[in-house]
Amino acid sequence: MTNSPGFAFRASHDREGARLGWFTTPHGVVQTPEFMPVGTRAAVRGIDMREMRAMGTQMLLANAYHLYLNPGDHMVRALGGLHAFSRFSGPMLTDSGGYQVFSLAKFRQVREEGVTFKSIVDGSRHNYTPERVMQIERNLGADVIMQLDELIEGGAEHAASRAAMERSLRWLERCRVEFDRLEREGRESATPFAVPEGAPAMYGGDVEQERMAPPQALFPIIQGGTSDDLRTASINGILQTGDWAGIAMGGLSVGEAKPLMYATFDTCAPLLPRDKPRYLMGVGFPDDLIEAVRRGMDLFDCVAPTKMGRHGTVFTEDGKVSIRKSSHRTDRRPLTGTCPCPACTDYDRAYLRHLHANEEPLGQRLLALHNLTFLLRLMEQIRAAIRDERFESWSTAWLERYRAKGA
Ligand code: GUN
Ligand code: ZN
Repeated sequence: MTNSPGFAFRASHDREGARLGWFTTPHGVVQTPEFMPVGTRAAVRGIDMREMRAMGTQMLLANAYHLYLNPGDHMVRALGGLHAFSRFSGPMLTDSGGYQVFSLAKFRQVREEGVTFKSIVDGSRHNYTPERVMQIERNLGADVIMQLDELIEGGAEHAASRAAMERSLRWLERCRVEFDRLEREGRESATPFAVPEGAPAMYGGDVEQERMAPPQALFPIIQGGTSDDLRTASINGILQTGDWAGIAMGGLSVGEAKPLMYATFDTCAPLLPRDKPRYLMGVGFPDDLIEAVRRGMDLFDCVAPTKMGRHGTVFTEDGKVSIRKSSHRTDRRPLTGTCPCPACTDYDRAYLRHLHANEEPLGQRLLALHNLTFLLRLMEQIRAAIRDERFESWSTAWLERYRAKGA
């Protein structure tokens, strides 16, 4: 693979450390550093795409594993692909499901050929190979698609970690070959994506453009646990195999100590090309985002903000807060005094606590809205600070307050 038409990345400076970037995709430009909200099944629980756009979501993540099982990648393709199907018109990314197969699937078996597993939906047997995953992600039609990789538990032995990292490299090469084949096939076939007649407009986009299958970019995933030598070998292997439109870092935030995770960014960042976006997978706590941006990372995703919101925990500038605490029973203060989300602007803590104490779906929705708004705003503040060349002082002050004491 030599290049990815329709994709480009420009970074504000080529020094080390925090950088401002513009990631161009066939569905628009993403200003980085940016956090991508997760809509696993092409839906963010309880929040519709009009709201996601209004909140400032630039790029949305979905999961190939869940969509392959239900409604099926061929079905999504027949319905116009992910953008037309979900009505999200901006750039999208699908994770390969490597992570989900390892954590969710029952009776999974990993062989060189791929992963076989039993479906969590109906117990049926499935073969998940690098080639099949490329076909699935092609059918889904996200802008950026992830390779199939092999994950192992955090804290695994060095030898096991090496074996998974090396297998991920071999799977990357198989993904690349199949990806290139599918791109050629897509260019040669006339009407790859069908959009139903009379389909309603997408929010901020045009269903018509989905009639053509736009080009995609395949991102490789760096593995190797927290071992410097394995991470270095992984990066070297990846850079030898192709000229990628972007590079992801996986296998982090899986239970290792935070300083070890930050040290891994320090190891990897100087080895990565400056002119490619770096996507840190599965990391989305405010302090981790800032520490990663400081070390040159550009894109992030995490289910934590929505999941925590559903369970009653919110991010604030003064750390994480559980709305379920009994001290909020009569607390008339807003969740935060600064966030523009409906939970903060229209309600007080006493009411939000009441909703959660009674498991009202509105409570879960409001806190998920808050956490997403909070993170997207944090990324905006990060970009402004980098732009004004005050990221170091801004981030030091922000982290000091965040880590001082919960509100
Ligand atoms: N999501 C979070 N971490 C990972 C990872 O290492 N691989 C994949 N495929 N997805 C992830
Ligand atoms: Zn809020």
